[in-house]
Amino acid sequence: MFIKKLIVKVVIPVSFLIVAVVGLAYLMTESTRTKRVEINVQEINVDMGAAALARGEDVYLTRGCADCHDLDAGGKTFINEPPIGHYAGTNLTTGSGGVATKYKTAKDWNQAIRYGLDPSGRPLMFMPSHEFHPLSVKDTAALIAYLMSRPAVNRTNPASMPGPMARVLYLFGQFPMLFPYQHVDATQAQAEDVPMAATVEYGQYLATGCVGCHGQNYTGGRIPGVPPDWPPAADITSKGVMGQYGLADFKLLMRTGKTFSGKTVDPKYMPWTGMSRLKDVEIEALFNFLRSR
Ligand code: HEC
Ligand code: HEC
Repeated sequence: MFIKKLIVKVVIPVSFLIVAVVGLAYLMTESTRTKRVEINVQEINVDMGAAALARGEDVYLTRGCADCHDLDAGGKTFINEPPIGHYAGTNLTTGSGGVATKYKTAKDWNQAIRYGLDPSGRPLMFMPSHEFHPLSVKDTAALIAYLMSRPAVNRTNPASMPGPMARVLYLFGQFPMLFPYQHVDATQAQAEDVPMAATVEYGQYLATGCVGCHGQNYTGGRIPGVPPDWPPAADITSKGVMGQYGLADFKLLMRTGKTFSGKTVDPKYMPWTGMSRLKDVEIEALFNFLRSR
């Protein structure tokens, strides 16, 4: 009798609830995934000169594009965990399996990189455009020039597709990386140029690339949307781990992954391989900014 009561009063209602929640999560995420969003993106002038291309390569590497789109811009899978989904950075070249041929103007690239929408207005998933939105006009143009100059790579990557857990987490507001276009602050004015110097201001500009993992206030914690085996990101304010760092220690960390305490952080979690391309003055700027927090 007890078992029957338990089934009628608990098991059946709970099962209905689970089916309803998962169903709602699929409806919501599918409607966003398949919609087309129209926005007004400013045109941007691209200079294909050698200085711009070199700067573009630095931006590509130091902002972590290669971590998801690979060094050759041909794309790669970076998360393949069925509950969370399959996420692959797209092949950004003109080769087979690449998307560059559908990018007609620099404006299209700007829209994908800084607003999270492909040229047709499709919301890009797990592509951190909200972190790239603050890129200056000069750095955006250099990055686009670099992408347009990439040799064709023939590689077809699997399409990105969220798993059931990612969809349910999204429903409860716990998976902001699923559709980053929703977190782009489009009212924010784009700086023409942020001069490279060892200033707190330039450090803050670079540190917009740390926010996705270390959090809006740089105080660290669990990184939203990554598989459960990832370590939490460190508190990188002066009250946290940066209080222990001198400039020389910080340089060593950014260049080699070696921490002040002598351990090495895994570049799979803390992407220092790309950051190792930062110039000395840039690392100093980051240091000054983080120590001011
Ligand atoms: C955390 C991983 C990640 C990082 C870092 C990243 N991307 Fe992406 N990017 C993706 C994923 C995943 C997609 C595919 C999204 C989709 O198809 O819904 C994508 C898509 C794109 C697209 C649109 C491709 C298309 O289908 O039209 C462009 C352009 C792009 N990324 C450029 C960049 C550039 C430039 C950078 C560095 C400034 C960068 N990405 C950094 C993950 C990333
Ligand atoms: C893709 C996620 C990710 C990004 C982006 C990222 N970090 Fe980290 N970072 C981590 C994780 C995870 C750890 C903790 C690693 C561990 O404990 O093994 C960490 C650790 C650190 C540490 C502490 C090292 C120590 O002494 O233990 C510092 C300092 C740091 N990050 C600085 C930065 C800065 C500066 C940026 C931006 C320029 C940045 N990180 C961007 C994930 C990230």
